[in-house]
Amino acid sequence: MISSLHRPTKAKIDLQAISTNIATVASHLPSRTAIWAVVKANAYGHGAIAVANHIEHQVDGFCVSNIDEAIELRQSGIKKAILILGVVLPEEVYLAKLYHLTLTVTSLDWLELAHELGTDLKGVTCHVKVDSGMGRLGVRSVTEADALIAGLEACGAFVEGIFTHFATADEADTSQFGQQLEFFENLIAALKHCPPIVHASNSATSLWHANTVFTAVRLGLVIYGLNPSGRDLELPYPLVPALRLESALVHVKKVPAGSAIGYGGTYHSKKEEYIGTLPIGYADGWTRDMQNFDVLVDGQFCQIVGRVSMDQLTIRLPRQYPLGTPVILIGESGAEQISATDIAEKRGTINYEVLCLISDRVPREY
Ligand SMILES: Cc1ncc(COP(=O)(O)O)c(C=O)c1O
Repeated sequence: MISSLHRPTKAKIDLQAISTNIATVASHLPSRTAIWAVVKANAYGHGAIAVANHIEHQVDGFCVSNIDEAIELRQSGIKKAILILGVVLPEEVYLAKLYHLTLTVTSLDWLELAHELGTDLKGVTCHVKVDSGMGRLGVRSVTEADALIAGLEACGAFVEGIFTHFATADEADTSQFGQQLEFFENLIAALKHCPPIVHASNSATSLWHANTVFTAVRLGLVIYGLNPSGRDLELPYPLVPALRLESALVHVKKVPAGSAIGYGGTYHSKKEEYIGTLPIGYADGWTRDMQNFDVLVDGQFCQIVGRVSMDQLTIRLPRQYPLGTPVILIGESGAEQISATDIAEKRGTINYEVLCLISDRVPREY
């Protein structure tokens, strides 16, 4: 789908903020920690190609979710390592070879399937995934890990890394985190041949458990400047949000008291009111549950009134404003601010989802 360039709805991305956030987090980690930037899901909505190319000199590698995201980065000129965090089926391994991508291998079943299909693993770089308690992907014992590493090496693959993922690093209660960490540390210590790169830390682990870094970290949300816990835990140091979502008034009218606004007529003006219309709706990722939430116009909160439709929404203005007046949906205006975390709270979700849902129809400007 192509972006809708000719309307005033845009996500503005501050690439320098992303660089600053990486430098800030890195300065709080042990000095030789390798930094892998997580740029899956279009760099959490920020635009994977632009982000990866901007930060390539600052990081040791990138993590993506699937082979297509990885190929997109290679085709855009990215030279550094790209680790695919999800499962690549043996049928697609030839693409990993072609584009020099690093695979995550999660089970002995996968290796068996690769054997059955005659997949040539010679020369493929891979990281073995350990399920230390997330319950999603990975081997669950040292016996399995040893067998997988040996099996991959016997096929001529290079097992460069081994890693795990924490389920609760963003929570105040550290009991599950502690169990996962202990499991992973014991497994690593017991391996017959430990691969050179060992990693476990996502953003939350890097922020609140910086002492548990192994040799590398996988930084996602923090590089985009947001708190992975929402508001549950305080950031130990400030980060700069990198995304601002803007639109503009394309229609303004004065309506008499009692006027119905939007699908279903769910809002009726209480008195004579100014209603503004913005060209953004649920097809842009501004979901229908944003009804009654606020946007910022001229440094003031203005309520979204009536239902959010596919392409448009309506707001109540304090007075008449000219067409083209900027409206901020995420970001600052005057002394006020709306963050992705504020929106997540309104929706009963997490700031990650708010960013990822901003659809391809919204152009990214850098
Ligand atoms: C395996 C893995 N590592 C790292 C990350 C990055 O997480 P965060 O954005 O919390 O840093 C993710 C994100 O979902 C992930 O799935």
